Amino acid sequence: MRAASDAITVTGLHKHFGRVYALRGIDVQVGQGEFFGLLGPNGAGKSTLINILAGLTHADSGQARICGHDVVSDYRAARRALGVVPQEIVFDPFFSVREVLAIQAGYFGMKGEENRRWREELLETLMLADKGDANMRSLSGGMKRRVLIAQALVHKPRVVILDEPTAGVDVELRTSLWTFARRLHAEGHTIVLTTHYLEEAELLCNRIAIMKDGCIAALDTKEALLRRALRKTLCVTVEEVVGDLPEALAAKVRRREAHSLEFSLQKGSDSIPAVLEALRTAGYTVVDIATDQADLEQVFLELTRGAA
Ligand SMILES: Nc1ncnc2c1ncn2[C@@H]1O[C@H](COP(=O)(O)OP(=O)(O)O)[C@@H](O)[C@H]1O
Ligand SMILES: [Mg+2]
Repeated sequence: MRAASDAITVTGLHKHFGRVYALRGIDVQVGQGEFFGLLGPNGAGKSTLINILAGLTHADSGQARICGHDVVSDYRAARRALGVVPQEIVFDPFFSVREVLAIQAGYFGMKGEENRRWREELLETLMLADKGDANMRSLSGGMKRRVLIAQALVHKPRVVILDEPTAGVDVELRTSLWTFARRLHAEGHTIVLTTHYLEEAELLCNRIAIMKDGCIAALDTKEALLRRALRKTLCVTVEEVVGDLPEALAAKVRRREAHSLEFSLQKGSDSIPAVLEALRTAGYTVVDIATDQADLEQVFLELTRGAA
């Protein structure tokens, strides 16, 4: 367990909607200054978790804190420390971009000149300066998404959660969102990024949680998750399975059939020629070989499919 001043502390969160169990006991801590990835297929429970953190939904049981503030009993302080860019784009179409941001500032009691200047800076940074007085309904999808980001940052929150910000956006906007998220992180914000693009998590995040069916299927540093991906499978077809293998080799066998042996090897340390040589020494005649290399995508699929 980490200190109470972690950016996000979640313990034993459960949430159901009717008969659907969206969260089944989630425990996760995100430290200050992390760039944290939340991965998982559709329906895994990512948005439900985020909505609980934002105080938009209440959990059935469990606790969630933002910078040490409970999201229920200390809602205002928790909410003030958090900026959420929601997955769904919902706006009142009749407000202008500047009005949307001013309303959000008012919601946090930030009406002064300093905040107004910050809002203008956000418009500049997010390339919305010339759209400030345009009505929301006149904006393209990509622009609306940028307004959502500006809206989440109006009160300069320490923790920023982006819920699938790049789903369905074009490559150019995606790249500029990555640059912007990196900049926020460099400026000291804690970032939680929800995505189902693995390459995005791999590019940006230090630690990654993989959610599946309302549970956390894996939670580790990016490097450790990638290390899991550093396995490769070697399938060897032999004339016949003749007898005992040397112990070191037997430990790597994953499947054994009448004419084939499947080995699970560690990339880098286990060499295929060495395995083949050991097989020959043990009296096997190798007829054919095939290999299959795992990557992060396969680790993800394996975990989220629930395969052994
Ligand atoms: N307001 C709601 N009412 C009923 N079911 C919901 C509601 N919100 C989410 N769910 C269900 O909870 C599960 C998790 O959804 P969600 O948190 O949106 O997943 P994700 O963001 O990972 O795609 C899904 O089965 C979804 O249909
Ligand atoms: Mg979602």
